[in-house]
Amino acid sequence: MFQRSQIAHKLVTAEQAAARVRSGDRVITGQAAGVPTALLDALCARRDLKDVEVFHVLTMADAPYCAPEAAGRVRFNTIFASASTRTAVQEGRADFTACFFYRLPDWVREHPFDVAMVQVSPPDRHGWCSLGVAVDYALAAVRTAKLVIAHVNDQMPRTLGDCFVHVDELDCIVERSEPLPELPPARIGPVEEAIGRHCAALIRDGDTLQLGIGAIPDAVLLSLGDKKDLGIHSEMISDGVVELIERGVVTCRKKTLDPGKCVVAFLIGSRRLYDFVDDNPFVEMRPVDYVNDPNVIARQDNMVSINSCLQVDLLGQVCSEAVGTRQFSGVGGQVDFIRGASMSRGGRAIIAMPSTAARGSLSRIVAQHGAGAVITTSRNDVDTVVTEYGVAHLRGRTARQRAQSLIAVAHPDFRAELRGQYRAAFGEDLPED
Ligand code: COA
Repeated sequence: MFQRSQIAHKLVTAEQAAARVRSGDRVITGQAAGVPTALLDALCARRDLKDVEVFHVLTMADAPYCAPEAAGRVRFNTIFASASTRTAVQEGRADFTACFFYRLPDWVREHPFDVAMVQVSPPDRHGWCSLGVAVDYALAAVRTAKLVIAHVNDQMPRTLGDCFVHVDELDCIVERSEPLPELPPARIGPVEEAIGRHCAALIRDGDTLQLGIGAIPDAVLLSLGDKKDLGIHSEMISDGVVELIERGVVTCRKKTLDPGKCVVAFLIGSRRLYDFVDDNPFVEMRPVDYVNDPNVIARQDNMVSINSCLQVDLLGQVCSEAVGTRQFSGVGGQVDFIRGASMSRGGRAIIAMPSTAARGSLSRIVAQHGAGAVITTSRNDVDTVVTEYGVAHLRGRTARQRAQSLIAVAHPDFRAELRGQYRAAFGEDLPED
C-alpha cells in the first residue's frame, strides 16, 4: 500500500523543482490541458539559465517561454503552433519540427530529453498516478527523461488505460490544486451546420469516428443524434462526444478493435468532460503510438476520420497547418488518421472546411497553392472534401474529375474564376452550374 512517507523526500515547491533544470537542458512537458503551467512559469522566472529548450505540442495557456524577453534563456520547439506560441514560431523566435503525431513517442525515445515535466492525478492506494487528460507522448517522456518533475493536481481526473506512472518514477513532486484549462464552446453558424449535415450523411450506424476540436467537429457531432452504435477511436475528444455517449448514440459496441471502449490520447473540454472521464473505464487513454498509428487505425473496420483544413487546390492537395509558408498549427494526427481510415475496411477519410476564409473574401478552394506552401495531406491520401455546398469525392478520380468535383463545392462567388483556371489547366470548358 502507498504511504505518503514514501514521497516526503520528493515534495518540493515549483521554484525548487525548476531549480533542478540546468543551462543547456532539453525539457519536454505534457501538452494541451495537461501543460504543467506552474512548473513552466517557475522555469521562465529563472534569469540565470542559458539555452534551455522547452518542447511540447498544443497549449491552451500563455507561453512565457515564447516571449521576446526569453531569448537566450529558453527557446521553444514544437510540432504544433498554438494561439500563444504561433507568433514566436512565425517570427523565427521558436522552432518548428515536422513530425507525424504517431511518431512522436518514438522520436522522444530516440532523442531522450534531460527533463520531463508533467501534470498527474494524486497517487492511488498503490502509488500510481494517472497522466489524466494528456497521455499522447507524456508516458514516453516520463520513461526516458533523466529527471522527472510531476505537478500532482487533485483536479486532474484519474483517467484509465495505458496512462499510469508510479511515484517511484518521479524525482520531484509539486503538490498544487489548480483548475484545468477549459475550452469555451465553439460558435456554430449556418455554414458549420451545413457541413455537419453533409458529413453526417457520410456516416453510417456502427461506424467508428475520429474528430478534432472546433466548430466543424462540434457541428458534425450535433448532426449525429439519430445514429446508432457509433464508436470512438480518436486522438482527442471534447464535450460533444460526452453528449452522444450519454444519449446512447456512442456505444462502441460495433468496434472491431477495442470494442466497448472509447480509445483516446488526449482530452480538451469543460469540467463536465474532465468529470466524465474520471475513473471511467468506458474511456481508455493510450499513447499516440497506439491511438494514431495508421496500422492500428486500419484494423478498425468502418473507421471514419473527420479533419479540417485551411486550403485545398484543384489537384486535391490539402494545406491544413500553414497559410502559405506561415505556420499556423501542425499536422497533428490528420495524416495518421486519413491514412488509417483509408486503409480500414469500409473506412472513409473526410476533410471538412468552410468554402471561404477571411469573412468570405478568400476561397479555400484554389487553382494552385502559393509558392512554398506547406502541403499537409498529399493528393494521394485525400479521399473526400466537404464544404457547406456538398461533398467532393476525390478517391480514385482523375485530375480532371477532382477539379470538377472541387469547383462544384466551392463558394458560388469564386466558381467562375475557378472555371477559368480549370480551362487554362485542362483545355476544356466546364458547364456553368
Ligand atoms: N487563406 C488565408 N487565411 C485563411 C485561410 C486561407 N486559405 N484559411 C483560413 N484562414 C484564416 C481564417 O480566416 C482564420 O483567421 P481569423 O481567425 O483571423 O478569422 C484563421 O486562418 C484560422 O482559420 P480557421 O478555419 O478558423 O481555423 P480553425 O481554428 O478552424 O482550425 C485548422 C483549422 C485546419 C487550422 C485546424 O483544424 C488544424 O490545425 N488542423 C491540422 C491538425 C489536425 O487536423 N489534427 C487532427 C485532429 S486533432
